[in-house]
Amino acid sequence: MTVYPDQASRSARLYERARRVMPSGNSRQTIFFKPYPVYAHHAHGCRVTDEDGVERIDFLNNYTALIHGHGHPAVMEAAHAQLRRLTAVALPTEAEIELAELLVDRLAGVEQLRFTNSGTEAVMMAIKAARAYTGRAKIAKIEGAYHGGYDHAEVSQSSRAPAWGEVTQPRSVANYAGQPEGVLNDVIVLPWNDVAAARALLETHGADLAAVLIDPIPSRLGLVPIADDYLAMLREMTRKIGALFILDEVYCLRLGYHGAQGRWGFAPDLTTMAKIIGGGFPVGAVGGRADVMAVFGFDDGAPKVPHGGTYNANPVTMAAGLAAMRLLTPDSFAHLRGLGDRLRTGLRECLAIAGREGQVQGVESLAMLSLSDRPFGGYRDIVYAAGFGEQQVAVHRHLMNHGVLTAPTLIFNLSTPMGVAEVDFTLDQILAALRAL
Ligand SMILES: Cc1ncc(COP(=O)(O)O)c(C=O)c1O
Repeated sequence: MTVYPDQASRSARLYERARRVMPSGNSRQTIFFKPYPVYAHHAHGCRVTDEDGVERIDFLNNYTALIHGHGHPAVMEAAHAQLRRLTAVALPTEAEIELAELLVDRLAGVEQLRFTNSGTEAVMMAIKAARAYTGRAKIAKIEGAYHGGYDHAEVSQSSRAPAWGEVTQPRSVANYAGQPEGVLNDVIVLPWNDVAAARALLETHGADLAAVLIDPIPSRLGLVPIADDYLAMLREMTRKIGALFILDEVYCLRLGYHGAQGRWGFAPDLTTMAKIIGGGFPVGAVGGRADVMAVFGFDDGAPKVPHGGTYNANPVTMAAGLAAMRLLTPDSFAHLRGLGDRLRTGLRECLAIAGREGQVQGVESLAMLSLSDRPFGGYRDIVYAAGFGEQQVAVHRHLMNHGVLTAPTLIFNLSTPMGVAEVDFTLDQILAALRAL
């Protein structure tokens, strides 16, 4: 069996080839890990096989998109039928309406929606809609939170000391060289779950804010869920200052039948979606209150926010997404929750048995293990946790060589074809990795 890493492996050689034609050999920085990523060849169910023939249980699921794993027969059949019939067309199709109806039925905050091709675009369109609706330019977002690659949404996504300023008044820090000052000035950065500090910032900047953009369980903040009092404050303050509450459900729609908004029991003004709603194909959607979504309408002339896109609501994505979402019943979510609880409990037991300090986070089908000795609260604890990176990498390497695919962040997300056997197998490998540290 090929051991990872091995410079003679087919993956290592593919990576060298990729480096000649792509900067750092890559089109998607978020999936890179050192010294080279393994190259995928094929996959089935919850298992993916790389170019060297090594099979692993897939706990990344294309970063949560593949909630049914790979090649679910019903999703494949829907996609194949659509491929045979029609792949792309400059006309709408019925499948677009069907998927929209399903999402409107399930999500309390979504009365109407529009499809995009990615979560990044969904977030961008939500922010534009909020601006058009309120007549204001600025947004507020959480320090360190990831919302894709739109300029305003990525402010302070990876800020570091000393540029990041005071913990209770984070500064807006550029995420790429040359990011315009104007963008930074139009984004207010809030600390996670700090009610008093965030409230004070919203009081100060409220009159200029179009929206507050929130992922209720941000992956880059170590899957620490939103605190009830923080959510209550954000809901109260957005109403008070007249800004819209954008709930970014790109990642966390997989938390339940009624999405994360069902779990936390409220209806945001706007919701962004992607990943699981596309059945494994590129997708995004922005939805919300009908009066807000009306900014995209053009019944009475030019829309307030123009919105096109060659592949928006493309029929293959719509057909596969509809099949995938129909398969997601309340029972599927109960299955995923049961496995998630088992995984998180097991991870805590592994730490205890191996005598290691660490943090285990996540809810429902999401879990994360960090070997940091400091509990996770906000973004700055995650930056501190990077100091344990070498140990994380060692565990990741062990898992790569023992049939488990995750990332060096040791993030895990579950898929419906997984069962207790896969979770318990993985826990055994993690315990062995921790013991070997
Ligand atoms: C919360 C959140 N928002 C937005 C995005 C961007 O979505 P996409 O990668 O489809 O552009 C992501 C991607 O992981 C995400 O996790």
